[in-house]
Amino acid sequence: MNILITGCAGFIGFHLAKKFLNNHKIKIYGIDNLNKYYDTKLKNKRLSILKRYKNFTFYKLDLNSKKKLINCLGKIKIDIVYHLAAQAGVRYSLKNPDSYIYSNIVGFYNLIETIKEKKIKKFFYASSSSVYSEKNKTSYHEERSLLEPGSLYALTKITNENFAKFYSQNLNFNFIGLRFFTVYGPLGRPDMAYSIFTDSIKKKKIIKLFNKGENLRDMTYIDDVINILIKLKSKKYKSNHEIFNIGRENPVTNFELLKLIEENLMIKAKFILTRRNKIEVLKTYSNSKKIIKFTNFNNFTDIKDGIRKYLNSLS
Ligand SMILES: NC(=O)c1ccc[n+]([C@@H]2O[C@H](COP(=O)([O-])OP(=O)(O)OC[C@H]3O[C@@H](n4cnc5c(N)ncnc54)[C@H](O)[C@@H]3O)[C@@H](O)[C@H]2O)c1
Repeated sequence: MNILITGCAGFIGFHLAKKFLNNHKIKIYGIDNLNKYYDTKLKNKRLSILKRYKNFTFYKLDLNSKKKLINCLGKIKIDIVYHLAAQAGVRYSLKNPDSYIYSNIVGFYNLIETIKEKKIKKFFYASSSSVYSEKNKTSYHEERSLLEPGSLYALTKITNENFAKFYSQNLNFNFIGLRFFTVYGPLGRPDMAYSIFTDSIKKKKIIKLFNKGENLRDMTYIDDVINILIKLKSKKYKSNHEIFNIGRENPVTNFELLKLIEENLMIKAKFILTRRNKIEVLKTYSNSKKIIKFTNFNNFTDIKDGIRKYLNSLS
């Protein structure tokens, strides 16, 4: 079986590729442009681990370049796609809005157009918990209509879902959208709160806790996400387009997260409480009933265990 993973040097793409590569019957084709959104040393480190496997082929490629994409993927047989490459992060959209449009919208379109003649069975793509805006804070259900994106990042993810819905009516492969809720773990992204808190505590730097640390995040451990993605691969889908929330259903405040990291490191954190950063949603809280019923996975890692594993991986 041949699997294409875009964003394979990224956090989730790397862990997924690594898991698959242990199965010699699976060939992984990985694409990544190794952009500089965060330290490329980390991306290269992940990539060097994947390159140890004989069944891994890497293409350094930008999804914006349709011509190169066609040249590269033209002759390859692909059975399943996990499209995880994207410009991630909410705050960065204030600084560099273009990269969201190029990578998340043009990139998504280019990829589908490039492979649409192939006999793809399943096309998984990353959406995000960010698609749920502030308007209806109590409902994080997949069926909720999503009309009011709270950030440019959210807008691109909602657009991806609409693209998938449209193409699923015309193409013969299953589209499966994955609304991830704050995924964390070893070799994770340095731009996310748990990494920033850890790094700042160790360096005795002052941490700014927006909204007085009261923002809630449904933090989901990477191994749980990978287990779910593997289970989804062999499932049969009734509809040509499905969307799943993937989250632990048990949010923690940023303050609780900080305290947990502080206790584990046994170093006192230096922090200041500040006002809300409006671009960030106050709460994410997955309703995961659909994914739990569909995959039978209901063994989410406790935040204390997950954070301990993450911190242990650093030493
Ligand atoms: N990690 C989370 O908590 C989380 C939450 C919700 C959604 N997501 C989504 O899941 C996916 C994976 O996230 P991640 O945490 O692994 O992010 P990541 O930034 O670590 O990985 C994304 C990878 O895509 C690559 N990339 C970006 N634009 C590209 C382009 N135009 N062409 C080729 N490669 C490109 C980057 O170099 C990077 O290595 C993303 O779509 C993200 O938006 C992640």
